[in-house]
Amino acid sequence: MTDQQLRVSKIRNGTVIDHIPSGQALNVLAILGIDGTGGDVVSIGMNVPSERLGRKDVVKVEDRELSQSELDVLSLVAPDATINIIREYDVTEKHRVDRPERVTGVLRCPNRNCITTEGEPVDSEFEVLDDGIRCVYCDTIIRDDIASHILV
Ligand code: CTP
Ligand code: ZN
Repeated sequence: MTDQQLRVSKIRNGTVIDHIPSGQALNVLAILGIDGTGGDVVSIGMNVPSERLGRKDVVKVEDRELSQSELDVLSLVAPDATINIIREYDVTEKHRVDRPERVTGVLRCPNRNCITTEGEPVDSEFEVLDDGIRCVYCDTIIRDDIASHILV
């Protein structure tokens, strides 16, 4: 696609999360804690044509870089995402997300009797499996819709 045909404008500074699976853009925003009230300047492309994926979502967040824990959870819903760091309109860094071995503190265990959800000061911790994630405290496995377990 040429510049004249860009659906979403280029940004000057910030992070472009590209190659998000179609349908996952809103989950990516949830992972980043973006609901529109915080003042972040955000552009979203949904179901945009892509050579590699057929269709993809794209999220552009201006003036912000992502933390490692945000990238870790992002990799669970967008394993093929490309993270582009933009400075003065140039792509200065481009990397893929890595599937971490564990994610700590970002997701809530669905088991109400789990020590991490009983009001104890214990951060949640999940082991990342090939087909889901497992709470290291109570062994509950989450396979589907991991994004719905994001702590807000
Ligand atoms: N981008 C942007 N603002 C800029 C520069 C780039 O929003 N100032 C976006 C582009 O629209 C694209 C992504 O950042 O979605 C990566 O840009 P670039 O590396 O130029 O594109 P490609 O070569 O197509 O990337 P890839 O090879 O990763 O598919
Ligand atoms: Zn648990």
